[in-house]
Amino acid sequence: MIRAPKGLEGVIVATTLLTKIDGQAGRLIYRGYDVTQLAGRVSYESVAHLLWFGHLPNQQELSTLEIRFFHERALPNQVIGFLKGESKVAEPLSALQTSVSILGGLRGRIESSIIDSSMNLTAQMPTIVAAYHRLRKGQEPVAPQAGLGHAANYLYMLNNKAARPEHIRALDSYFTLLADHSLNASTFVARIAASTLTDVHSAVVAAISALKGPLHGGAPIYVWEMLQSIRTPENAERWLRDRLQKHDRIMGFGHRVYRTEDPRSRVLKELARQIVDPALFKLATTVEDTARKLLREEHPERPIDVNVEFYSSVVLHAVGIPPELFTSTFACARTVGWTAHIVEQLQDNRLFRPDAEYIGPEGLTLEATTPGHSA
Ligand code: ACO
Repeated sequence: MIRAPKGLEGVIVATTLLTKIDGQAGRLIYRGYDVTQLAGRVSYESVAHLLWFGHLPNQQELSTLEIRFFHERALPNQVIGFLKGESKVAEPLSALQTSVSILGGLRGRIESSIIDSSMNLTAQMPTIVAAYHRLRKGQEPVAPQAGLGHAANYLYMLNNKAARPEHIRALDSYFTLLADHSLNASTFVARIAASTLTDVHSAVVAAISALKGPLHGGAPIYVWEMLQSIRTPENAERWLRDRLQKHDRIMGFGHRVYRTEDPRSRVLKELARQIVDPALFKLATTVEDTARKLLREEHPERPIDVNVEFYSSVVLHAVGIPPELFTSTFACARTVGWTAHIVEQLQDNRLFRPDAEYIGPEGLTLEATTPGHSA
């Protein structure tokens, strides 16, 4: 038996052709391409093709995928019916998760390959998020529009109007940057579920559960609340010192793998500089610099730098996505990564089944532990 460290830090449990993270240098590579090179230069659909099929698409492959996404975006009546019947108090991510489960149940009746299910689900995720958001506001869902890409369609379905080109570009880059990140908690969960030979939708439902937590994809709403609470650059140091004295974590900082700035954060910060209101950008950069300085004082032994969630929250806000949809939007982007890992897991599968060391008592008897007990 091998005893793994707590949190499995530094343990390799799979090989992958999908994504490489160099945590020391702060680099993220999708199938050989640096992600900072891809974001904004090729579309999210191209990146999806790269992760699923191993190469960037040629023009014909790209239009085939785009047309396919368009035809598969619409939701079946059963899902729309569920979203309409929902009390609307459920968090958007919970409604998304249940919708994926319903889609999986319906899909059970269709003969389809894992990659077909993966493409189908990726196409439908933003439609679910947008439909539920509109229903919660008392508005009718908006059908996807032909000719719009993944990011443009999402914004269109949320707002029922064409989005500004710079917002579409920013969201498309965000989708690319968040598409995959090796064995993060949610992707690991997806691979574990897939290793039991469950279906794609069930593995994604499991992944969404892990994504929800504030130490993972649940962080950006807290980043946003922190920025709202700090309000002005002058308040940043006092606010952050106070939190650190209370041993609270500063959301949007720290990472298990990166020992330097998260490379995705660099790209998102530049996008934020281009599209965010200057006062908000000044606030965010001041909070970033101050938190980095204070975290260095607090943890000189361990570099704790900004992670992807910090500037994600600012960029998503700028393109018009409300904070309660931040994690659901992350899930839309990550569906490509989750499903690419599920495909990869199944190509060379063995059931994940580690062990736990039992450290409790042994040899107890009912007679000794339960007074008055007689067999
Ligand atoms: N603020 C304050 N202290 C921190 C932070 C932070 N953001 N991150 C780590 N630390 C401290 C911990 O308190 C701990 O200190 P201690 O040893 O004195 O108890 C030490 O650093 C190590 O913490 P771990 O949780 O073991 O570090 P790990 O590398 O496993 O944590 C994690 C990674 C969970 C992301 C952590 O940095 C964190 O909680 N960050 C805030 C939440 C966040 O931003 N999550 C999004 C991550 S990105 C993503 O999932 C897409």
